[in-house]
Amino acid sequence: MKIAIIGFGTVGQGVAELLVAKRAEIERKIGDFRVVAIADLTGSIWGDFKLEDAIEYRRKKGRLPSDRSAKEIAEEEDYDVMIEVTTTRLDESGIEYMKTALKKGASVITSNKSIAVDFQGLMRLAENNNAKLMYEATVGGVMPIIRLLNSYLALCEIIGVRGILNGTCNYILTRMEEEKLPYSQILSEAKEMGIAEANPSADVEGIDAGIKLVILANTIGIPAKFEDIEIVGITKITPQAFTVAMQKGYTIRLIAEASKKSLRVSPRLVPLNSPLAIKGTMNAAMIKTDTAGDIFVAGRGAGKFETATAILSDLYELVRTN
Ligand SMILES: NC(=O)c1ccc[n+]([C@@H]2O[C@H](COP(=O)([O-])OP(=O)(O)OC[C@H]3O[C@@H](n4cnc5c(N)ncnc54)[C@H](OP(=O)(O)O)[C@@H]3O)[C@@H](O)[C@H]2O)c1
Repeated sequence: MKIAIIGFGTVGQGVAELLVAKRAEIERKIGDFRVVAIADLTGSIWGDFKLEDAIEYRRKKGRLPSDRSAKEIAEEEDYDVMIEVTTTRLDESGIEYMKTALKKGASVITSNKSIAVDFQGLMRLAENNNAKLMYEATVGGVMPIIRLLNSYLALCEIIGVRGILNGTCNYILTRMEEEKLPYSQILSEAKEMGIAEANPSADVEGIDAGIKLVILANTIGIPAKFEDIEIVGITKITPQAFTVAMQKGYTIRLIAEASKKSLRVSPRLVPLNSPLAIKGTMNAAMIKTDTAGDIFVAGRGAGKFETATAILSDLYELVRTN
């Protein structure tokens, strides 16, 4: 199998490092593979190269050796699978490489949430070209929710999903719950610790969770677009709100909810004994089904090797189901 990796930041390098470190084990499960090209914004490498050398080069020089663009690599190279792990951009530019690959009949595995821009269009494109688009890593990192919905629960009616889809918000809310400190103080500490980004607005305003909810909703057959999601972030929550909630046996979590009746991301009261009262940077979701009752799933929503693990899981699934 010939693999092209587009995007060579945290996740791209994580995937490459796992492919090197676990090559024998992975080849036993999926057969022989070769990474035939890697590209990102500033450089690329293709042809006859060793994956470990590409990782080392990038680590030392901060870029890949050639100036050939990611667009050219995506269009011109011969690969069976594209691992698309570039930055999430909420416009058509974020899905260009994926479209190029799918049009060529190559499958795509991605952690790039830009698929929310045109989820249905991408799925149609994949189907029309006998290719697959796999996206487990886009929602909840390594929390195995997409496969659970698409495969294990494929014959259930999914009545709704309620989830905690942003680790930064959950971390801030957990500390507000435990320490009753103001939101702004915890946010600045979270930035210092690298848990929140320097510009955290997409996280704390609920936009990141909203994008993931679009992907989840489409996965359960609700053809939602980002504009359809009602979004309220966590910036207005006070420590006093936690005090009042906890006196009544509740905490507050940023819940993303998709059902036929509701598409929204907002701070909600959650019973303290509910599994959704999960703490720290974890992601979690409760899936309500017709015949299987409620199913709870949790996992790490981000991280280099966690996200890379979700990508490799999709790679395995792609091979297994072909
Ligand atoms: N990190 C996580 O834990 C995690 C978890 C779940 C999902 N995700 C998603 O996975 C994707 C990758 O995340 P990351 O953490 O690896 O991000 P990252 O470290 O910022 O890496 C992004 C990579 O994409 C490249 N890139 C950006 N725009 C590009 C373009 N137009 N053409 C070609 N290459 C481009 C960047 O190139 P340069 O280095 O040259 O700028 C970089 O190599 C994102 O969409 C993110 O939202 C990440």
